[in-house]
Amino acid sequence: MRETWVVGAASNRFGKMKESGREAATRVSLAAIESAGLRPKDIGYTFVSNCFGIAEHQAHVGPLINGGLGIPEVPSCTIESACSSSSAGLHEAFVQVAGGFIDAALVVGSEKLSHLDTLAATSYFAIAADYAFETRNGATFPGLYATLASAYRDAYPTRPEMFGAIAIKNHANAARNPHAHFQKEISMETYLHSPIIASPLRLYDCCPFSDGAAAIVVAAREFVKTPRAEPLVVRASARAGSITEMQDRPDLLGLPATRTAAARAFQQAKLTPNQIDFAEVHDCFTIAEALALEDLGFVPKGQGASAALEGITARDGSLPVNPSGGLKAKGHPVSATGVSQVVEVFEQFNGLAKGREVPRTTTALTHNVGATGGSCSVHIFSRR
Ligand SMILES: CC(C)(COP(=O)(O)OP(=O)(O)OC[C@H]1O[C@@H](n2cnc3c(N)ncnc32)[C@H](O)[C@@H]1OP(=O)(O)O)[C@@H](O)C(=O)NCCC(=O)NCCS
Repeated sequence: MRETWVVGAASNRFGKMKESGREAATRVSLAAIESAGLRPKDIGYTFVSNCFGIAEHQAHVGPLINGGLGIPEVPSCTIESACSSSSAGLHEAFVQVAGGFIDAALVVGSEKLSHLDTLAATSYFAIAADYAFETRNGATFPGLYATLASAYRDAYPTRPEMFGAIAIKNHANAARNPHAHFQKEISMETYLHSPIIASPLRLYDCCPFSDGAAAIVVAAREFVKTPRAEPLVVRASARAGSITEMQDRPDLLGLPATRTAAARAFQQAKLTPNQIDFAEVHDCFTIAEALALEDLGFVPKGQGASAALEGITARDGSLPVNPSGGLKAKGHPVSATGVSQVVEVFEQFNGLAKGREVPRTTTALTHNVGATGGSCSVHIFSRR
């Protein structure tokens, strides 16, 4: 396998976009290619994620993006793996570049849903769950993650302030991130008095519906030679799946796909969890961050929820988690999320994360979950 780098990255501001998902994807793609010091014609393949293009009456968006970049002859394909779509795109790009099939790939995720109301957006999202047993019976993602949160509360001693501290930390980080949907801090009082969305989840336990687009360029070391920015060496690119139907799982105290993907990633990278300097994890709901810390091996079982309250996951803690603000506060434009986690690593490694820097940036991990854990990607990056 060839040594493979992330050499360029770009994101727009998440929230509400005036432009279409396709226009945003094209714009951030060009910005990512330029940040790499490359030209569009250097791209050998474009991997696009755009789960809800159908809400914009647009499928098969890859050729349109490549056309906009002036490279209509370059192959493209759309990768769908629910909320882990663009990290799946990164995995495919890694395989092609590391395997020597192409020298450079563009990975881009884009989503626009703000023209839909909450009911319509919730319905669109819910199609990524199991229609036969979950969605058809009224399940939504806030409801499904509330089930995970209830199981966690039943199994371990928890306090609402533990989950509140996760939301407060991520809002504080997002307030320092120009790409973030919510750029405002919240207090514990605000958290504790926010409305219940799906018991026990409150408003500030939930990620919002966000528009957004993010792109990265993945290239072989030997192709780039003199990178414009500090590249991210891809030390591991691991994917895993697990039973998606909640009723068929042996327990609800974690996501098996995270555990499997993490084990594969740490084996590939020849690293252990305590060698990771910071992580971007999939916190679509605060309970998801708690479970991720446990499943990734950063803290023992039952201690994920208290990590933020204890300061462990703060930017100056022993393991900074979600310095970008995470899905919770940076936002969650489903298809852009996986790539945007890598954009944060790129900015941290390159001194571009002004005001939200983490102290150590030698090794970082990104963790991106599809739906309630039917699919998962874990990537590990380090400096040269
Ligand atoms: C939590 C949720 C139901 C709130 O929707 P809503 O009640 O219709 O809220 P609105 O869109 O009307 O927004 C009302 C206010 O709350 C804010 N808000 C909305 N969602 C928010 C969130 N998740 N966190 C913080 N603030 C939020 C809005 O910015 C708005 O603020 P403003 O009045 O200052 O402008 C919705 O954001 C949601 O379903 N989130 C989860 C999305 C999801 O399931 N993603 C997939 C994960 S796997």
